[in-house]
Amino acid sequence: MNNAGLPPGIPQESAEIPDYADLPHSDIPEAVREMPLVEISSSHKQTKVLWGLGSGLIALLLLGLWLVPRLLRAASAPIEPLANITPQIMGQAIVLLNGQAAPLLNHLPYAEAPRADLKPISSDGQVLLRRSAAAKFKEMAAAAKANGVILAPLSGFRSIAEQDHVFFDTKAQRGEDPEKRAAVSAPPGYSEHHTGYAIDIGDGKRPASDLQTSFETTAAYRWLQQNAAFYSFELSFPKNNPMGVSYEPWHWRFVGDRNSLETFYRARETPQP
Ligand code: DAL
Ligand code: ZN
Repeated sequence: MNNAGLPPGIPQESAEIPDYADLPHSDIPEAVREMPLVEISSSHKQTKVLWGLGSGLIALLLLGLWLVPRLLRAASAPIEPLANITPQIMGQAIVLLNGQAAPLLNHLPYAEAPRADLKPISSDGQVLLRRSAAAKFKEMAAAAKANGVILAPLSGFRSIAEQDHVFFDTKAQRGEDPEKRAAVSAPPGYSEHHTGYAIDIGDGKRPASDLQTSFETTAAYRWLQQNAAFYSFELSFPKNNPMGVSYEPWHWRFVGDRNSLETFYRARETPQP
């Protein structure tokens, strides 16, 4: 021990270090109790600092070598083509980002069904539904036929371009304002027919009632009322529907799988502005 009460080899200036051995053991912080009372010499300190700086520089150099080529590649990468993103999909993305499915003239926005999933349900192949809905419609029509009822498919999937014609050209021909037109036809981008899950059904024995409120007096409508739910079809616009769309006894939609259910019920349950 030297005159500072330190072990031999420890310089005098280290006497500034509190002599923990003199303190009651319980007063010493736990982390400090374990510390060796050995002062590091200044040359040892310098060596350690130099080593630290050297390793830091090497680490930075390696990081730079790894990062720079990647950043250069990312900066020169071509931008993904947006060809597959239709205005409707973009519109829905914006609507979802806003957290709201914004209705237009009482109609909710819907994306177009993927063409590859569309299947014909009419004998001329012109009326299309999504695969799952098409299979159930055919099953339902066969069951109705067995009861002497002809369910005639009038209109299934409609593209946004087709709905554009249905809405604007008819509106112009009839001289209607947007609200009057929207009471019976959805604006383009807002029709359930875009989804490939909605279908207008007529009575094959009463074509004069096609797309008319009088369809509700047909055998086809009565059969649908009693049986459609067994095939997961439901009326989209019953009398006094909450969306305020005109009563359409001919317009039915498929809600028999997860995608169709989410398509219609999530849109409806999203809080409206
Ligand atoms: N007739 C319904 C509302 C439509 O056009 O989608
Ligand atoms: Zn319809």
